[in-house]
Amino acid sequence: MAQRSARKPAAGAARWVPESMDLETLRTAAQACRGCDLYKDTTQAVLGEGSLDARVVLVGEQPGDQEDRAGRPFVGPAGRMLDKALDEVGIKRDETFVTNAVKHFRFRREGRGKRRIHEPPDVSHIRACRPWFDAELALTDPDVIVTLGATAGRMLLGSSYRVTKQRGDRLELEDGTPVVGTVHPSSVLRTDDRKSAYAAFVADLDVVASMLER
Ligand code: URA
Ligand code: SF4
Repeated sequence: MAQRSARKPAAGAARWVPESMDLETLRTAAQACRGCDLYKDTTQAVLGEGSLDARVVLVGEQPGDQEDRAGRPFVGPAGRMLDKALDEVGIKRDETFVTNAVKHFRFRREGRGKRRIHEPPDVSHIRACRPWFDAELALTDPDVIVTLGATAGRMLLGSSYRVTKQRGDRLELEDGTPVVGTVHPSSVLRTDDRKSAYAAFVADLDVVASMLER
């Protein structure tokens, strides 16, 4: 470690992820992460939240403005809609762990005001941040992973993953962990036909519910 610190830091989060892990240790360590440049001008790194016994791990894209301030994932409108949809298919809050592919908020500032406008992370950010997700996954060891949107889907299923074609399918990671991909809840909120978009989102989550042995 001492030798390495004299050199240029390796790109990516790996060197900041502690070896002995519990969630609070991870959360604290992530605040010091310089694995890519997204930490700049943010409030904090936002790690996942929920049960470590979670049967379902849900993965979004990155914290938004509200999540950056609160230090918690999915606390804004998209999160409220996600909670409602999970409730509809009978997946309980304490069966879930909710997190993001990327742990810092990427944004641009619009005009002279302070408004921070969401910008999607690049592939390089997603790759750099992956060790934090892997650490969360090792802690939770879920029965099913749910990717919310293209970013999380591509991170876990590869660049050929297409959410429009493969949503609701039962897929798996290389190690056999089941994965179901669906759209990002924000896209449901943005669409003109919100009712049918929401119904399709709930139908995808229902696939997940059916995979959990009760
Ligand atoms: N969108 C995400 O992808 N994650 C959040 O935590 C909030 C909004
Ligand atoms: Fe580290 Fe991820 Fe934040 Fe980049 S986005 S600085 S890799 S925690």
